Amino acid sequence: MAGLPYIVGNWKMNGTRAMLNEARAIDRAAARFPKVQVALAPPSTLLYRMRDTVELIGVGGQDCHAKDNGAYTGEVCAGMLKDAGADFTIVGHSERREYQSETDAEVKAKAEAALSAGLSVILCVGETEAQRDAGDAEGVVTAQVEGSCPSTEGAPERLSIAYEPVWAIGTGRVPSVDDVAAMHKAIRAKLVAIYGDAGSDVRILYGGSVKAENAAELLAVPEVGGALVGGASLTAESFLAIVGAAASLAEVG
Ligand code: PGA
Repeated sequence: MAGLPYIVGNWKMNGTRAMLNEARAIDRAAARFPKVQVALAPPSTLLYRMRDTVELIGVGGQDCHAKDNGAYTGEVCAGMLKDAGADFTIVGHSERREYQSETDAEVKAKAEAALSAGLSVILCVGETEAQRDAGDAEGVVTAQVEGSCPSTEGAPERLSIAYEPVWAIGTGRVPSVDDVAAMHKAIRAKLVAIYGDAGSDVRILYGGSVKAENAAELLAVPEVGGALVGGASLTAESFLAIVGAAASLAEVG
């Protein structure tokens, strides 16, 4: 799998200007970890300011609308994220799939809009606890990959998948390393089925209760190319511990 480990913080609906200090501290420290690609996805109100505040790390959105413009009150399109300085956007996060009832087809349209606007994409997939208990986890997740992956020419070069079991997000619970390995393998096979050889280079991140204490173990799993971090990305101290764990693995790997 190509590329540096990719450690991305998703601030969700957290952060006002005061929190830019955390972003600045993360950015300064990123210079010590050249073997890790680091990025933050703040709320869109902070994007422009964060872009101005940081130099080394990537900055991205948490979602975008599928249309380029128009009468969609409250929405933000991919071109606006790009204009505010974003390098990438997250799409299809399970909180949006659940609370905004986003379908695979909508997530795919958003990913395609983001790629057309010149952004990279982190596309999230993951099963619920009931789906895992029913033995359907791999089927559900590979169907999400199939239904939401963008068809845009050149898509695999600017696409990452984030596997985030819904039951692991914000709960402190994580799947076993064997379950993570099996799911990442299944996602890889689906990506190769969709994109051919180019599917081998798409980074697959793990997300869901990644913390300093479990980061090294999760990041060492085959096919785990990085982490999407929620709660532990809100302070420089907790986020940098995860970046440091990725850097240590990159040194030995
Ligand atoms: P968490 O969130 O790290 O707080 O579990 C991860 C995510 O939702 O991306």
